Amino acid sequence: MNVLDSYRLNGRVAIVTGGARGLGRQHALALAEAGADVAICDLLEEEGARTRSEIETLGVRSLFGKVDITRPEQIDGFIRSVEENLGTIRILVNNAARPSEGCALADLDDALWREILETNLSSVFYFGKRAAARMAAAGAGGSIVNIASINAHVISNIAPRYNATYCAAKAAVENLSKSMAAQWAPQNIRVNTLAPGYIHTSQTAATAAIPEALKRNIENTPMKRYGRIDELKGAIVFLASDASSFMTGSTLLIDGGYTIW
Ligand SMILES: NC(=O)c1ccc[n+]([C@@H]2O[C@H](COP(=O)([O-])OP(=O)(O)OC[C@H]3O[C@@H](n4cnc5c(N)ncnc54)[C@H](O)[C@@H]3O)[C@@H](O)[C@H]2O)c1
Repeated sequence: MNVLDSYRLNGRVAIVTGGARGLGRQHALALAEAGADVAICDLLEEEGARTRSEIETLGVRSLFGKVDITRPEQIDGFIRSVEENLGTIRILVNNAARPSEGCALADLDDALWREILETNLSSVFYFGKRAAARMAAAGAGGSIVNIASINAHVISNIAPRYNATYCAAKAAVENLSKSMAAQWAPQNIRVNTLAPGYIHTSQTAATAAIPEALKRNIENTPMKRYGRIDELKGAIVFLASDASSFMTGSTLLIDGGYTIW
């Protein structure tokens, strides 16, 4: 196959969680630009509807569903509606996540610990298990991309906005992805992890608003800058497509070199 053709996603149906804004919106647009029909879900209805229209202007089909990714019954309903309206799911990007506590462990409330782990880790299991079951039933295989972070590898020095829950959840997302990859390989479902470095979004805004923390993050990045919001688009299409057909259980770090040091 011509190498550029191996990146094409025409006729494939993709889901991006947290696709209304930020990096999820970019992932959704990238998959649509490569030819996929893209369903997005999020808690944000206005932004979700806007991104859905943007996807449709690229000439592919789309749908938006208001889904809380910590609620398995809402995920079931969304997956049903994607299959009824767009067809067999071939790609899932588990992208949605929430910012972390921003306080020291000593001040971290037990309920908040559970809440953040539920959103940033358990949702990957809830959505992944359900999407993989549908992919296996259809027999056409699939690709699941779980979004982790450099914080799966290093905890970063973003004091005073500590993020222990986020780091723990993202490390577990990477490890969980390996178990998913091993257990679903016989069904030709590949599972990989994308681990980005710092990119300005609403998630990183609170830390970036602290001048010393922002300076530290930039200084600790060999490329001496945050990533642009569109700098993961190539990686998402690579991981979702046949261009990465022999890759499973791996992590792609895209961080301007942050984790070198
Ligand atoms: N921005 C960065 O520097 C960076 C770095 C590494 C990893 N990431 C990861 O990239 C992904 C996207 O983050 P972002 O920076 O675009 O942040 P963002 O806050 O702009 O986007 C996250 C999206 O997820 C949605 N979401 C949150 N909780 C949800 C829930 N319970 N149900 C449904 N949707 C929910 C939000 O509404 C939002 O649209 C996340 O997994 C994040 O951890 C971001």
